[in-house]
Amino acid sequence: MNVTIGTPLQSSAFKVLLLGCGELGKEVVIALQRLGVEVHAADRYANAPAMQVAHFSYVLDMANPKKLEKLIDQIKPNLVVPEIEAIATEVLVKIEKNYNIVPSAKAVNLTMNREGIRRLAAEKLGLPTSHYRFADSLESFKSACDDVGYPNFVKPVMSSSGKGQSRVKNFSEVEQAWQHAMQGGRVNQGKVIIESQIDFDFEVTLLTVRAKNPKTGHIETHFCDAIGHRQENGDYVESWQPQPMSDKALKLAKEIADKVTTALGGYGLFGVELFIQGDKVWFSEVSPRPHDTGLVTLASQFQNEFELHARAILGLPVNTARYSDAASAVIYAGHDAQNLSFQHLEHVLAHPNTELRLFGKPEGFKKRRMGVAVARGANIQEARQIATQSVNKILICTQEL
Ligand SMILES: Nc1ncnc2c1ncn2[C@@H]1O[C@H](COP(=O)(O)OP(=O)(O)O)[C@@H](O)[C@H]1O
Ligand SMILES: [Mg+2]
Repeated sequence: MNVTIGTPLQSSAFKVLLLGCGELGKEVVIALQRLGVEVHAADRYANAPAMQVAHFSYVLDMANPKKLEKLIDQIKPNLVVPEIEAIATEVLVKIEKNYNIVPSAKAVNLTMNREGIRRLAAEKLGLPTSHYRFADSLESFKSACDDVGYPNFVKPVMSSSGKGQSRVKNFSEVEQAWQHAMQGGRVNQGKVIIESQIDFDFEVTLLTVRAKNPKTGHIETHFCDAIGHRQENGDYVESWQPQPMSDKALKLAKEIADKVTTALGGYGLFGVELFIQGDKVWFSEVSPRPHDTGLVTLASQFQNEFELHARAILGLPVNTARYSDAASAVIYAGHDAQNLSFQHLEHVLAHPNTELRLFGKPEGFKKRRMGVAVARGANIQEARQIATQSVNKILICTQEL
């Protein structure tokens, strides 16, 4: 079937409802707007980044099934695009017969919970992962930690960006890790995963796109060049593309990404996180949507990850080719305050190969991501250096000087 895009704000409009309005959603909205889509954007607070560029916005608790279903029925979107994990995914499963969920209700439902995706990857698909156990009480947690061994990583099954996570070096740290996990989980589910530490050489995100082949009408899988990244306390601070790796590791990485995204199904871009050591590859986790480390593609690819996602979900062809080595570095607020101002942007942009995104978040806190600097370079070392220097040049003030 051919794709038809109508006129926004008229009866022929092709409507997308975005659930979650962070910085990644904002770029998805911009990509959709460029293709003439009418965008509706929802999140739990007003003036979220993606709301600032959408046609319509809605503030609601998306973890509330009744409210979420009511909103979807009110808008009747052609596509529902979840951009965050903290939503009532059971509603998506229920309404999937009437609405198109991106990439699929199953994918969204399985990936919002570390248990769902880990059991699918390791137990159903047989992909290599760290050793793991689940626990839902301090007692079962203690024995699970001993089972998995030390050091290990503890994460609430419902959490992201390092929240509630800790690296447990030995038994004396177990109790503290449990308390930390119980406070940091998104929805207080009281369940954690304990993972053995993988001693990787580096970790990558393999952006994987499931898009329709315009000639055959079938879904095809495309890969972007691997993205290397550096995490601090479970949060990404820097990423670069391409990450060099052995041919064998790259082949394995693509096989793993293909298997897991095929199992999740639907159209769209996925961020497949992998650990690499020599020729060995482990699956870590997957986002059924653009990935924060993929912000680097704003500078490196003809079609960045947001444009790839927009095209794929609309049933349009994609091109994952890269034209430059590039890097991204995160700009943190550094303050717990609203009404922040950003200065010295001219110093950053004086460099011809840099670009900035300021997300427009209404409130900052010290470690909140407020923007990103991206840079092209002759190689990844140079690009990383320029991106990091760019971030260091920016001055963030709590009020206008
Ligand atoms: N089993 C592990 N072995 C080694 N490092 C890990 C392991 N699990 C997590 N990490 C580190 O912590 C980071 C965040 O973990 P991840 O599972 O991706 O959580 P999140 O969903 O918050 O991104 C990873 O990118 C990696 O750097
Ligand atoms: Mg991750």
